[in-house]
Amino acid sequence: MIDLRSDTVTRPTPGMLAAMASAELGDDVLGDDPTVKALEARAAALAGKEAAIFTPSGTMANLIAICVSTRKGDEVLQEAGAHPFNYEAAGAGAVAGVQIRPLAADRGILDPATVEAAIRADNDHFAPATLLCVEDTSNRGGGSVYPLERLDALTALAERRGLRTHLDGARAMNAVVKSGVPLERRARGFDTVSFCFSKGLGAPVGSVLCGSGADMHRARRVRKMLGGGMRQSGVLAAACLYALDHHVDRLADDHRRADQLAAGLAALGYATDPHETNLLYVQIANAPEAQDRLADRGIACIAVAPDRIRLVTHLDVDDAGIEAALAAFAAL
Ligand SMILES: Cc1ncc(COP(=O)(O)O)c(C=O)c1O
Repeated sequence: MIDLRSDTVTRPTPGMLAAMASAELGDDVLGDDPTVKALEARAAALAGKEAAIFTPSGTMANLIAICVSTRKGDEVLQEAGAHPFNYEAAGAGAVAGVQIRPLAADRGILDPATVEAAIRADNDHFAPATLLCVEDTSNRGGGSVYPLERLDALTALAERRGLRTHLDGARAMNAVVKSGVPLERRARGFDTVSFCFSKGLGAPVGSVLCGSGADMHRARRVRKMLGGGMRQSGVLAAACLYALDHHVDRLADDHRRADQLAAGLAALGYATDPHETNLLYVQIANAPEAQDRLADRGIACIAVAPDRIRLVTHLDVDDAGIEAALAAFAAL
């Protein structure tokens, strides 16, 4: 099976498994796992923040960020396709006690004017907006990459209006590789930034949340409350460190293969949504049925809407896999 459902499906490489097997371990809840500490220090430096915490998932990193930057009854502004609003089991409402206000955005890229218009007046009737979340790359936006000026404009607006800011960088390294702009610069105006190792970077588990020392001190307690304190988690952190060493630059291959898929599909008469990185949405009638027929031909994908199939390129899909996927679409 060529698995194009998600970039989360990758299996650890032999090199990554060897790094995991030889990791120096401690008990991270007791604060003495050296490999986790090394990963957190490296992630904080990459993001240009004082500190970082290792989390089991991007979902938990986002939820902790929301908990740290809001109080119950607050409103969190984010794009309508954003992950917390759509795919995080209402954790922001259920756990952080906030209301998410979804905002329309072209290809998932928020416009400062839309954000500003959504900030309600100071009035007893209204939930105060206290946090702006930005997703880069935007998953439902087709892997779109925020222009740097847009990130800066959004964080400047938030600062002017007294909102805190969180960058959901689940695929931040795809944005870094595509834009050529380091994470430290892309995340500069944000209070917190998360990124995932278990997507294009190919680790089996793990994300980080980065921010100020004071915010990460609070974040550590929230992580514990959520059950995200892990013990010999250096075995996982070793995979993440390995991914930073070996799997960042190669994300360009995934982007190239998504381009090849889009071009090949266009030649077959299929329309695709605009794409920039490794996520490609194909417009197709009766997507669930097409998903089944593609599976019969050895191609796994996800029908994300009645008329859309998502194809995701990643570490475990090579050029032959792209050819096989195109042959399966040709035979539909
Ligand atoms: C943009 C974005 N944020 C957060 C997440 C959550 O990551 P996890 O699956 O590790 O909880 C995802 C997962 O696909 C995502 O695409």
